[in-house]
Amino acid sequence: MTGHRAAQVRIFPDIEALSRAAADFFVMRARESIAGDGRFAVALSGGSSPKGLYSLLGSPPLRDAVPWRGVHCFWADERCVPPEHPASNYRLAREAFLSAVQLPDANIHRVRGEETPDAAARAYEEDLRRFFGGPGLPEFDLVILGAGEDGHTASLFPGSPSLRETARLALPVYLERPELDRVTLTLPVLNHASHVLFLATGRAKADIISGILEEGNPRNHPAGLVRPGDGDVTWLIDREAGGKLRRPVRA
Ligand code: 6PG
Repeated sequence: MTGHRAAQVRIFPDIEALSRAAADFFVMRARESIAGDGRFAVALSGGSSPKGLYSLLGSPPLRDAVPWRGVHCFWADERCVPPEHPASNYRLAREAFLSAVQLPDANIHRVRGEETPDAAARAYEEDLRRFFGGPGLPEFDLVILGAGEDGHTASLFPGSPSLRETARLALPVYLERPELDRVTLTLPVLNHASHVLFLATGRAKADIISGILEEGNPRNHPAGLVRPGDGDVTWLIDREAGGKLRRPVRA
């Protein structure tokens, strides 16, 4: 580990412009990784922020701009629901782009949300170990994340013991009701990625974003704990989410 680099921040007038920049980022990273070692391992998120990105990836011209056979899709987190459930993060990606691109089924490493959180997390961890090989931490080429109004990211929630995990790659997350339970990648995995891309929009995120990006994350928001030692972090946000930054930057 070599110390943290400062996050890059780009602010866009609207979600369309933000999604176009996110899609360009995805395509660039995918081409770069595939040209390097023949594959691109990406972890996707759910939520509303990546929807525009996903539909751009599933439509021309970007649908045809990525050597999809080299792309391997994982998930930063998943809800414990079956894959056809409207809340499934896998389903979100499948409907928006996975069904439209030439991606072999074997390259889709979904979390088995239909199982118990514990079984799904263990099976996912095995899949990660098989794919990345060796006992070390997986090194994702790209992790796409969102940030909740409470500062959560993936399914790492404020105050959760999961934030202290050092050994596991994926953990079950038990919430108030079973249908809300989730599986999440852990901080050591997120912090071992080559590139992390945060997408966030809306006024409700403005406080957590200025806290994380300008105030040194004094409230320990989980999203602010994602700082890969050897990778970089880029935040693509809209004007409202960037509304409390004192040093506004433009895209
Ligand atoms: C999920 C996510 C979650 C999300 C944030 C932000 O499955 O919901 O992975 O961590 O990224 O809640 O959500 P929005 O993009 O909807 O603001």
